[in-house]
Amino acid sequence: MIQKEKLEALLGNCPIGHTLIIKEVTDSTNLDIKRAAESGAVHGTVAVGEQQTAGKGRRGRTWVSPPGENLYFSMMLCPDFAAEKASMVTLVMALAVAQAVRSIGLDAGIKWPNDVVTGGKKICGILTELFFREDNSFYVVIGTGINVNQRQFPEEIQATATSLLLARREAVDREALLAGVLLYFSEYYDKLVRCGDLSGLRNEYESLLVNLGASVEVLDPKGAWKGTAQGIDNAGELLVCHEDGHVEAVYAGEVSVRGIYGYV
Ligand code: BTN
Repeated sequence: MIQKEKLEALLGNCPIGHTLIIKEVTDSTNLDIKRAAESGAVHGTVAVGEQQTAGKGRRGRTWVSPPGENLYFSMMLCPDFAAEKASMVTLVMALAVAQAVRSIGLDAGIKWPNDVVTGGKKICGILTELFFREDNSFYVVIGTGINVNQRQFPEEIQATATSLLLARREAVDREALLAGVLLYFSEYYDKLVRCGDLSGLRNEYESLLVNLGASVEVLDPKGAWKGTAQGIDNAGELLVCHEDGHVEAVYAGEVSVRGIYGYV
C-alpha cells in the first residue's frame, strides 16, 4: 500500500498533492477526484489508488490496474486559463513523468502527445478529463497510470508495453517516484501558467520527443496520411511535414499518430 506519511514527507510543501486521498481499492482515481470536486475539493488535490476496478484508458478503453505494483493517480486542477488550453496540461504531465523516470536512471522519452516510453515500449498512460460546473467554471482531472513494478504483461501487449522494473531490472520505490512526478509537474505547471502556453517548455519537451524527425502515420478520421514529425507548436500540436513539404499542425484531440515501423 502507498504510504501516505512517506509521500507527504517527500512532497514537503509542494502545492500539488497538499491534500491526498489514498484508497486501497477504488473504481477509478479519476472518479475519486470528480467526486471530491463535487464535495468542495480544491486545486492540487491528488487521489491515489492501490488498485482500480474500473480504470479508464483513452478512447473508451480500460486500464487494467492490478494491486501492489504500479501507480494509479489523478489530480484536480482549477486553471485560470481558458478551457480550450486544458489539453496542454496532458503534455506537461507527460514531461513530468518522463523526467521523474529519467531521474531514476532510465532513458525515458515521450511519444506525442502523452505516452511515456522506454526502449520503444509504453510505461505510462495519461487520461485528461474536463468538467464544467453549472456556473460555467471548470476543473481538469489528469489521471496517470505508470507501470512501475509489474513483472508480467498479457501476451497481446508484450510488444508495446513494459514496466520500470523490467526495463531497469530493479524495483522502484513508488512513493519516491510519485513525489518526483508531482514535484516536476508543479514546476512545469507554473511555467505553463506564467507563459500562457507551452512556449517555456517546448524545447525540453522536444528534447524527449521520440517522434522527432521520425516518419509517422497521422490517423486522421478523415483519412490517414504519412509525414515526418518536426516538433510541437506552443499549443502542443504536433508539426508534421507532408511529403510535398508543407507542414501541418496536428491536434491531439482529433487524431493519433503511430510510427511507420512500430508502436513508437
Ligand atoms: C491511456 O489510455 O493511455 C490512458 C490511461 C490512463 C490510466 C490512468 S490510471 C489513473 C487514472 N484513473 C483512471 O481510471 N485512468 C487514469
